[in-house]
Amino acid sequence: MGDFAPCPPEAVTAAQNICGSVELREITDRRGSAVWQATGPLGTVAIKLGYGADGEGAEITAREAAVLDTLPDYTVTAGRSGPHVWYVTPWLDGPSTWELFQPVRDGSGARTTALAGAVALCRAVGDFHAAGWVHGDLQPSHGIHNATGVKLIDFAWSWREGTDPWREFNGGITHLVAPELATWISLGPQPVKPPPAADVYALAGLLWTCTTGRWPLDYAATGLALKDTSPADLRRAIAAGIPLTAARPWPHLQTVLADVLTAPAPERPTAGELADRLAEVTT
Ligand SMILES: Nc1ncnc2c1ncn2[C@@H]1O[C@H](COP(=O)(O)OP(=O)(O)O)[C@@H](O)[C@H]1O
Ligand SMILES: [Mg+2]
Repeated sequence: MGDFAPCPPEAVTAAQNICGSVELREITDRRGSAVWQATGPLGTVAIKLGYGADGEGAEITAREAAVLDTLPDYTVTAGRSGPHVWYVTPWLDGPSTWELFQPVRDGSGARTTALAGAVALCRAVGDFHAAGWVHGDLQPSHGIHNATGVKLIDFAWSWREGTDPWREFNGGITHLVAPELATWISLGPQPVKPPPAADVYALAGLLWTCTTGRWPLDYAATGLALKDTSPADLRRAIAAGIPLTAARPWPHLQTVLADVLTAPAPERPTAGELADRLAEVTT
């Protein structure tokens, strides 16, 4: 995997306090954030490290650990290693939404499991909203599915209504930022408070991506070359309006999603209403 960040000994000790002697597996390392799976005789945990010279990775991971600490369904141990911040949390078993949709993208299998997963993901987001939270960075890999439902991960941009927002909100992955949120981030005022309706846009967008294998917006149709475009410029383009990609491998599902992706924020369904609409989709 090339230059993967070293795992801090303090984090390994914290993992071993839970799991016994652990073996580490490198999962991801990008933009100042690395994740390992640590497996021992007593269990498996995820170790996440925020690092980087400017301290931003450490700050993001510290606030994510603070979010995990307040969520009743999660447990977390966090600490520092020099300038870096790490946390340890139970490993969640099960496929991501992206993995659940693999047979849909391949055209190789039944769509029932993927559809049930899409409904369960929307319900999990609806529950999160009902508790006053906005996730802020829903993505194809941020829902983990198992027999009892869906658990969300990567709460780095999550915000609970009624609390102080983060100093600056730059949104989650730019491809799934709702147009009105892109406008707010571009024009201010900061700090942006991501609304639940932006999560619903991201939900529809990630399900579109899981279905087609492509981000929902057809950048090429507006002459935008992604590799030459900064996130700030991409947000401005999204705010101005970009059509959806043309491929419709699952027309019934995509009609429901397209309605969400093209609706103004006040007319979008809630996450729970989107779950109800998806439950009516035929495979
Ligand atoms: N608690 C967890 N259980 C299972 N997998 C996890 C967990 N935390 C992270 N991962 C895995 O690591 C990947 C990266 O984690 P994420 O929190 O999204 O980090 P990043 O900030 O790099 O996006 C996830 O897509 C998932 O595959
Ligand atoms: Mg992530």
